[in-house]
Amino acid sequence: MTTPRHPRVLSGVQPTGALHLGNYLGALVKFTRLQHEMETFIFVADLHAITQWQDPKLLKSQVREIAAAYLAAGLDPKIATIFPQSAVPEHAELAWVFNCVARLGWLDRMTQFKDKAGKHKERESVGLYTYPVLQAADILIYKATHVPVGEDQKQHLELTRDIAQKFNHDFDVPDFFPQPEAVIEGPGARIMSLRDGTSKMSKSDPSDYSRINLTDDADAILQKVRKARTDPEPLPETLEELKARPEAQNLVGIYAALDGRTSADVLTEFAGVGFGTFKPRLADLAVAKLGPVGEAMRRYMSDPAEIDRILTAGAARAREVAAPTLAEVKSIVGYWAG
Ligand code: TYM
Repeated sequence: MTTPRHPRVLSGVQPTGALHLGNYLGALVKFTRLQHEMETFIFVADLHAITQWQDPKLLKSQVREIAAAYLAAGLDPKIATIFPQSAVPEHAELAWVFNCVARLGWLDRMTQFKDKAGKHKERESVGLYTYPVLQAADILIYKATHVPVGEDQKQHLELTRDIAQKFNHDFDVPDFFPQPEAVIEGPGARIMSLRDGTSKMSKSDPSDYSRINLTDDADAILQKVRKARTDPEPLPETLEELKARPEAQNLVGIYAALDGRTSADVLTEFAGVGFGTFKPRLADLAVAKLGPVGEAMRRYMSDPAEIDRILTAGAARAREVAAPTLAEVKSIVGYWAG
């Protein structure tokens, strides 16, 4: 019988642009909830960020902005460990070992690389290709058991499990690394573009009207919800009837996630109601929920020294957990330093 593992949460966000409603509902809200249930490590993925070009003059302030969003969403540095990935070199060291465990065929299947690289994959960085291997190291260096993410990260979590299993098997250390679980459930896990209900809300969409940014003011939120694409039908009674209506399904999902309810519950309240009525209700809810987050973010950003203090203390704490794992790995692999 294996002993139950110490439950531990790990997740992160890339500092590559303004955070949007998808990041908030798919990730930040869950981080904040889970910190009260399990030991929690949340980092800013600046190693991952440079897989695509980032201006070195801006990167540190981008990291601070994500940290400000974490704090504004309710992460409490007294409970959760918040840190920049590049301040904990153990991630990158473990990633090297995992580069030698993961198989090329596994990485070839990663859809996010294909989406990001498009037609010209030969021009992309090698880092963008091996990105999911570093993600596995982020998770397993803490032997994390729970990883709150949006649905787009599901495949990366499956790869993490495969890497953990192959490492344990190849080096004959059963149960050394856990099989971490993705925490994906709920209507916030896949927020779609406000302009097209079949594509994901994304930082890289050229249209700002496709997303609500965490820093949008009330006026911008109202405008974006008003202009969101919809269809002329009233809302139905059942989820089944929403399936063929991606934009309607998305707006109902956003309402549900913002209000901490299920989509079915929202339909019970709004069945038979048209978008002329539903959209203003959604906009009011979004302003009520996101307005204070945006305000708090601006407040934290006005005190960068405090953010830096939190990140520095977080990195020291993270290293206390990461360093022993790396030392064990080195010894298992047979390294000189192990
Ligand atoms: P990133 O920075 O692209 O996104 C951060 C988080 O936001 C979620 N997300 C969404 N959720 C719902 N609907 C959307 N439209 C939406 N868009 C983004 C993402 O799923 C993610 O949870 N590879 C990660 C960062 C990372 C990481 C890790 C995460 C690096 N190492 C280890 C967990 C564990 C990424 O690029 O997220």
